[in-house]
Amino acid sequence: MEIIVLTGAGVSAESGIPTFRGNNGLWENHRIEDVASPEGWERNPQLVLQFYNERRKKIAEAQPNAAHYALAELEKKHTVKIITQNIDDLHERAGSKNVMHLHGEIFKSRSIKNETVNYDCPGDINIGDIAPDGFQLRPHIVWFGEMVPMMETATHMMHTAEIVLVIGTSMVVYPAASLLYFATPFSTKYIINPEIPEMQKTKNLIFIQKNAGEGVKEIVERLME
Ligand code: APR
Repeated sequence: MEIIVLTGAGVSAESGIPTFRGNNGLWENHRIEDVASPEGWERNPQLVLQFYNERRKKIAEAQPNAAHYALAELEKKHTVKIITQNIDDLHERAGSKNVMHLHGEIFKSRSIKNETVNYDCPGDINIGDIAPDGFQLRPHIVWFGEMVPMMETATHMMHTAEIVLVIGTSMVVYPAASLLYFATPFSTKYIINPEIPEMQKTKNLIFIQKNAGEGVKEIVERLME
């Protein structure tokens, strides 16, 4: 069976990586627009680099949790494609082979002038670190107000899904949140989240009101039968 998995920050919450919302609009004590927008970068690139350097260190120390591992296990029986909004690499470290990062990756960098070429980035990026094209490096991350280059491919992927798992996302950030609605009405859609997000009505929707660790394990066991 072809299974598309849409994941958000909640799938990594039990690995100790904080989610974005539900904290007065603050993200690790910063206003999201200060550290995740082109305007924030124009105002204070140093702050933005430092912010992501800290995130990169924390993510490097984090470990995949039961939900990441269960999704990797699912590949033994099904064709599984993960479309994640997360910039961490916990799906890959758990063993998932087919992961698309809609909002970029913390362990990659790119030039401020070219979003199509990216580089491995295991450590810090500092002011003065330049890409081969001679321009400053920045994290390879899609900020608010920027295009989501993988969106078209992701939309096409949804058409052939027989099952969709939506795990740990508040479904409020577009265009990512629209992906679910590109799945056919015949596909079964499971929403796994301790707080059921507000969503448009769509056919064959099943809510599993649990944390990812428990809820994903449960659904994966069912799909492996
Ligand atoms: N298991 C599953 N879901 C959880 C857990 C958990 N243990 N803990 C929290 N959640 C859920 C919350 O209920 C919420 O619905 O995870 C969701 C997290 O929502 P957000 O913080 O909004 O994260 P996300 O949906 O990934 O945000 C989308 O916003 O800031 C941008 O680019 C950033 O990719 C990000 C995008």
